[in-house]
Amino acid sequence: MAYYQIQGGAPLRGIVPVSGAKNSVLPILAATLLNGGRSILHNCPDLRDVRSAIAILRHLGCRVQREGDTVTVDSSSVERWDVPHELMREMRSSVIFLGPILARCGRARLSLPGGCDIGPRPIDLHLKALQKLGVEIREEGGDIYCRAGDLRGVDVILSFPSVGATENTILTAVACGGSTRIINAAREPEIADLQDYLRKSGAEVAGGGESVIRVSGEMPRRDVEHTILPDRIEAATYLCACAACGGEITLTGAEPEHVGTVLQCLSEAGCMIQTAGRNITLRAVRRLSGLPTVRTMPYPGFPTDAQAPLMAAACTAEGTSVFLETIFENRYRHVPELVRMGAQIRVSGRTALVTGGALCGAQVRCTDLRGGAALVIAAMAARGESRIEDITHVDRGYEHLAEKLTALGADIRRNNEDV
Ligand code: UD1
Repeated sequence: MAYYQIQGGAPLRGIVPVSGAKNSVLPILAATLLNGGRSILHNCPDLRDVRSAIAILRHLGCRVQREGDTVTVDSSSVERWDVPHELMREMRSSVIFLGPILARCGRARLSLPGGCDIGPRPIDLHLKALQKLGVEIREEGGDIYCRAGDLRGVDVILSFPSVGATENTILTAVACGGSTRIINAAREPEIADLQDYLRKSGAEVAGGGESVIRVSGEMPRRDVEHTILPDRIEAATYLCACAACGGEITLTGAEPEHVGTVLQCLSEAGCMIQTAGRNITLRAVRRLSGLPTVRTMPYPGFPTDAQAPLMAAACTAEGTSVFLETIFENRYRHVPELVRMGAQIRVSGRTALVTGGALCGAQVRCTDLRGGAALVIAAMAARGESRIEDITHVDRGYEHLAEKLTALGADIRRNNEDV
């Protein structure tokens, strides 16, 4: 099993390019099933989750090619309507294939999704929304069987602005007669990006970034070329890393507006931040001061995916910082690992109280994707050497992490030997 060996203590300096967004490319890859033609997607990060999504597309009958960061999907011949258990288990986001398979094939069979173990991650909101559109759903032996009955455009009200449920509803609604309104939709930038892709391929979708989305029942039919938006969580992770280690980094190809809440927290904690077009420069010249209370919220609130990386930075700050995780239960699984590195963190329910101090190198284990990123940050900010195991979690969502950090001056080595 692969692990990182990190010698802490070096400040980060230099330029780091931001990759395409994992959470954008995954639903867009699923959406390529719809047009029955070619989709050329630029800025596709080469991540484990992206490879899983490509494996699903190939299983369904699509031809998929990657050249550099461009992935081309030809969905002219889709022969299957199921996603096998092994592929579903690889990542939870595979549930996003449900809507497009239904819209394209009129039926779908999926097993219950996998992904990070960060508390119960039900898909009841997805299924309720699809039923409202006229999808007949049956669960049997851990599999979900769906049939696109008499699909009709209606008002779908989500009881919570779930990102995945919003995407699945959009992707099913394109096949419904009449128009659909999704009320209390998620407003994440990745949803607006999915809508941009769909519009280019001929669908009529309005309201990206708003809490009401309108979809007319018009299957996209055009070939399309699209560039995936920058990954705001990857950007936030590097910013937190520099805040924890000190130094000065510039992110290129970023979208500053999408990390507004993260920039505000880091700036209040004493970092100097400048944005210019697609660049973000962060300078951390002194120890961070305590952060303002960090409450994770649906976009445009503070992203739950940046909670763990920011917590790693808070472990090195002066004073006490308070975190409130409101999106996922059990998203503090990185805390015992940070504590092994000397962090002082008390968790009570959804609240974590972090008292900053010095960290020391240790042998720790990634528990999930963003928790793994937090351990990497803590190890770079710590005195001495750390060994971070189970880094396949990190491979799900960070492209060339060790290479990018090495270019910034970090002492990090990936080791693929058995542990
Ligand atoms: C997406 C992101 C993930 C991010 C999350 C929240 C992708 C591929 N992943 O995940 O990185 O952390 O948004 O910003 O885009 N819920 C239900 N029932 C449902 C669906 C969700 O109860 O049917 C709950 C979840 O358990 C969770 C909350 O709603 O507590 C948010 O989930 P959701 O917004 O759906 O996240 P994902 O789409 O899974």
